[in-house]
Amino acid sequence: MAELCKVHGVGAKTAQEFVALGIRTVEQLVASGRLNAQQLVGAKHYKDLQVRIPRSEVGEVAAAVRRALDAVLMREGVPQERLAEVAEATPCGSYRRGKLSSGDVDVLICRRDGGLDPTLLGRVLVQLEAAGAEVEHLSSPSVDCESYRGVLRLPAHPHFRRLDLKVYPQREYAYALLYFTGSDHFNRSMRALAKAKGYSLSDHGLVRAHKVGSQNVVRGLTNLAPAETEADIFAYLGLEYKEPIDRNCDVREGVGGGAGEGVGGGAGEGVGGGAGEGQHAEVSRLGGTGCSSGNGASSSALVSSVVASSVVASSVVASSGVASSGVASSGVASSGVVSSVVASSGVASSGVASSG
Ligand code: TTP
Ligand code: MG
Repeated sequence: MAELCKVHGVGAKTAQEFVALGIRTVEQLVASGRLNAQQLVGAKHYKDLQVRIPRSEVGEVAAAVRRALDAVLMREGVPQERLAEVAEATPCGSYRRGKLSSGDVDVLICRRDGGLDPTLLGRVLVQLEAAGAEVEHLSSPSVDCESYRGVLRLPAHPHFRRLDLKVYPQREYAYALLYFTGSDHFNRSMRALAKAKGYSLSDHGLVRAHKVGSQNVVRGLTNLAPAETEADIFAYLGLEYKEPIDRNCDVREGVGGGAGEGVGGGAGEGVGGGAGEGQHAEVSRLGGTGCSSGNGASSSALVSSVVASSVVASSVVASSGVASSGVASSGVASSGVVSSVVASSGVASSGVASSG
């Protein structure tokens, strides 16, 4: 059961159904003929996909995507000197937050010279393969112009890696960057704060919304805050800007507990501190933004308290010794939770430079 759950695309419920049919191993699962195309790719590479991706390799995959994008653009007639200005490709997710390793590679592409082209991602993938990468699809690049999910192995690399590509138009790009940089907990807090102010924040923009029961009902489609940069979005919401590296919300219960993953830190990934998975606690270290872990009610309750200017008392462990701005928390410990925050740090890359 545990092994079956590790197959990408197989959830706990489906795994239970397979177990009920007498299927115990991934090999038996593949042989059963019961997997759809996506699950088959997941099953084929399930061991590789368990392995975290070192930061350097995330950078290599992102650079390969950038080269493929450049080749596609040049074939369209874009001169080499205009490549960087016409399109952007930014590795997001945990990589952009400075993590030493990632679960997948998330690359956000922005075409700055016009509308979305539904064939762009497909052409980038064909080019990646032409350059020697092995690619298998979890989603078809031909039917969804905005996003692609697959697995990719670079030439001379041992492992297949999960790759997510997304394309956004210029007007939404800052919102998409903010969303896909995360962390998930950071996003939840920021969305909850936006909600408390009467908005709905998404990867596409900020629109008016109002609450009906527990639902945030969107009232308009117009993006109220056209944003060139992520900083514009923070400013519109009245928040102090946080660099990607300060958007990690790795929280461990207990003071001085756990060890974060970060560049140059005294503590390695997954090491130390007596705080294991599932011991995350609410915390705020954002001095106004709010950054909470947990989900559902506790998260919203915390953010509401943040909106009301109270902050959960925290202690912060900056694993690299790079002090994060605005980290020190103060104020009313409204929930009584005392937490330590492991502020990871690292080199936050701002993108992959265009070749040439
Ligand atoms: P992920 O790639 O799932 O997360 P990650 O890059 O932070 O971590 P990992 O190293 O495990 O890949 O998603 C990228 C970002 O998208 C994530 O940081 C925040 C955002 N996101 C959400 O806000 N909510 C979600 O449910 C998911 C899946 C992602
Ligand atoms: Mg990721």
